[in-house]
Amino acid sequence: MREHLAASKRTEFEYVVACRADWSRTEFLVHLADDVSPEAVGEWRTAAAQLSLGYPAEYLTGRAQFCDLSLDIEEGVLVPRSETESLVERAADRVGEVLQSSRPLVGFEPCSGSGAISLAMADRLPTARMIGVDIDATAVRCALRSARRIGVTDRVTFMQANVLCSWNGFRRFAPAGFDFVISNPPYVTGERIQAAIESSPREPVHALYGGPDGLLFYRAIVERARRALRPGGLLFLEIDEGLEAAILKMLYASGMTNCRWFKDLQGLPRYMEARQEQ
Ligand SMILES: C[S@@+](CC[C@H](N)C(=O)[O-])C[C@H]1O[C@@H](n2cnc3c(N)ncnc32)[C@H](O)[C@@H]1O
Repeated sequence: MREHLAASKRTEFEYVVACRADWSRTEFLVHLADDVSPEAVGEWRTAAAQLSLGYPAEYLTGRAQFCDLSLDIEEGVLVPRSETESLVERAADRVGEVLQSSRPLVGFEPCSGSGAISLAMADRLPTARMIGVDIDATAVRCALRSARRIGVTDRVTFMQANVLCSWNGFRRFAPAGFDFVISNPPYVTGERIQAAIESSPREPVHALYGGPDGLLFYRAIVERARRALRPGGLLFLEIDEGLEAAILKMLYASGMTNCRWFKDLQGLPRYMEARQEQ
């Protein structure tokens, strides 16, 4: 069955089989010689067919690995990407360096999806509170399940809302303003959306499409973060290559300070940071 898959899908197939059987990679190799029940053959055939149709392996295992955490994931929720792990690492380091405080810090994450960023920030900042918001009910359900399993529901909250609408309702979580806002919003432009759908045909388009110029969510987040952040608060954004100049301009025009962007491991502009005036 494995042999019928394209070479690029074979490792994913092995991963899915091993995960479902709760085997390590070595155990998987040991079990290769086993007799297989007809039920297992049927199940694996279905998995192989789904992988060929472009289902991410994470939809078949129900789990995604992100920053040392194992997250719940379902079809319809964007699988968190490895480049977003660097956003979390950078942001957690900066929050630790810049925002020393005797009270617990409160972070806000618009477009939280599977909850990966909020859960990993909470893991790295053990007293911080995180509020994650996403428009998609399945994403919010997955994020809440992960928070329960990881045991952080006292510090991490997820809710369903449209971040393009007012954020006033979230003020109750931080009446004096959020200490930081962090987001990886949809950012694919009209020109690139078809290629993005073709490269991951089973993932939700509403998690990718950022309007014709890719800036729809950045405009909303920058404008609202400006009002929602406390003085000196930090804003962290994941961005796409080619959007950096426009977002930098937008941040300065809004009155944010210390605005700068950073490259990812491929050398492409990927992360943006800015600070609310003190
Ligand atoms: C690029 S994904 C990021 C998900 C997650 N933060 C991550 O890094 O894996 C963008 C997310 O924005 C959500 N989204 C799209 N439109 C939204 C809106 N108007 N309000 C809130 N969330 C929205 C999608 O459901 C999706 O989960």
